[in-house]
Amino acid sequence: MDITVNKTKSLKGIIEIPADKSITHRAFMFSALTKGKVKITNFSKGADCMSTLNIIKQLGCEFEFINEKEIIIDAKDALKAPIEALNCGNSGTTTRLMMGILAGQNFNSKLYGDISLSKRPMKRVICPLELMGAKIKHNDYKLPVEIEGTNLQGINYNSPLASAQVKSCILLAGLNAEGVTKFTEPYKSRNHTELMFEYMGANIEINKNDICVKKSKLHPVDIEVCGDISSAAFFMVAGLIVPNSEITIKNVGINETRSGIIDVLRAMNGNIELENERIISNEKVANIKIKYSKLKAITIEGEIIPRLIDELPIIAVAATQAEGITIIKNAQDLRNKEADRITAVTTELRKLGANIEETNDGFIINGKTDLKGDCEVECYHDHRIAMSAYVAGLICEKPIKINEFQWVNISFPEFLGLMNNLI
Ligand code: S3P
Repeated sequence: MDITVNKTKSLKGIIEIPADKSITHRAFMFSALTKGKVKITNFSKGADCMSTLNIIKQLGCEFEFINEKEIIIDAKDALKAPIEALNCGNSGTTTRLMMGILAGQNFNSKLYGDISLSKRPMKRVICPLELMGAKIKHNDYKLPVEIEGTNLQGINYNSPLASAQVKSCILLAGLNAEGVTKFTEPYKSRNHTELMFEYMGANIEINKNDICVKKSKLHPVDIEVCGDISSAAFFMVAGLIVPNSEITIKNVGINETRSGIIDVLRAMNGNIELENERIISNEKVANIKIKYSKLKAITIEGEIIPRLIDELPIIAVAATQAEGITIIKNAQDLRNKEADRITAVTTELRKLGANIEETNDGFIINGKTDLKGDCEVECYHDHRIAMSAYVAGLICEKPIKINEFQWVNISFPEFLGLMNNLI
């Protein structure tokens, strides 16, 4: 589906953001481990989470949609050997977390994915899983992988990467391993796994960047999933850069390990207010109010990077409208996402007229630039590149065409509908 985006005068209104993708993956997978029934309210309907749901079904779970917002997962007795290979689609989270679950089962399984996922590195999870005793066959640490289920041993793992997918994989393996599994990360990455483990009664201890888990059961407790700050980010930036805009985004998860985007946009002089802060299923939530603002450039580096890793493409769009030189560093892992997001963002924003350069581990963006548009933009099979291009298109002088915009459905099928409510 190719679409055209036109310049807009303002964005005004109140929207509710759909459920968090990271938390939905975990809610589906962890429910599958409970041997009971879990009601999940407000789950992500994006293709990535549907890949996870299909996989737990192949592993013997049943589910029933009660209505648009509620699903009941019935985990039955225990996970069963799948008859066919498990399709992870485009989803890195599905792949890496499922590997942690499957490595310690008493059956074998095979995981595969689409072209983009098949190029992504799995060494980061295969190596620590092998240290735990896992038996995994692979070709150069890429999908497809064959897992021979076996008994796992706890390890003490000092991760070189601040990656929540690696951390969650090892903690899930640890839940079913003998002894203690200790995971230490260099900087804090998103902690939804730890919070949901606590919420579901696992034996877990958290001490800053050290997390210890012991063999334990997850209890079937109902879960409500908050709105996705990574989806809200596109509306936050759109509201800040489209003149005369005023948007309220309801029900957004503002977990500290995800809210780097709020800190950065505020440091850029963005007018952002939080209202009605509350806790839902162990996660902090708020409504976010945004008003058009004159932005200024900042440097983004170090410890904050994992707190906003998925938001860097849309932050780059914001930086084109900030006065001064924005520098983004230490974001090397952006090259290992659904696309090489450093090259993709630089190439596409340049087409629109931005002054942006790629570096080994980030960007240098010189603003403020009036974006011209009048061109065709590619998505690189990447939902976040598609949505970032859309938001940039809202301020281009001339219309832009975005090719294959359907990639948005990976995380945010509701995107166009919500945007049209505000235009
Ligand atoms: C995710 C973790 C992040 C993020 C991804 C979702 C998760 O990846 O980019 O979109 O749900 O754990 P890394 O942990 O590999 O950085």
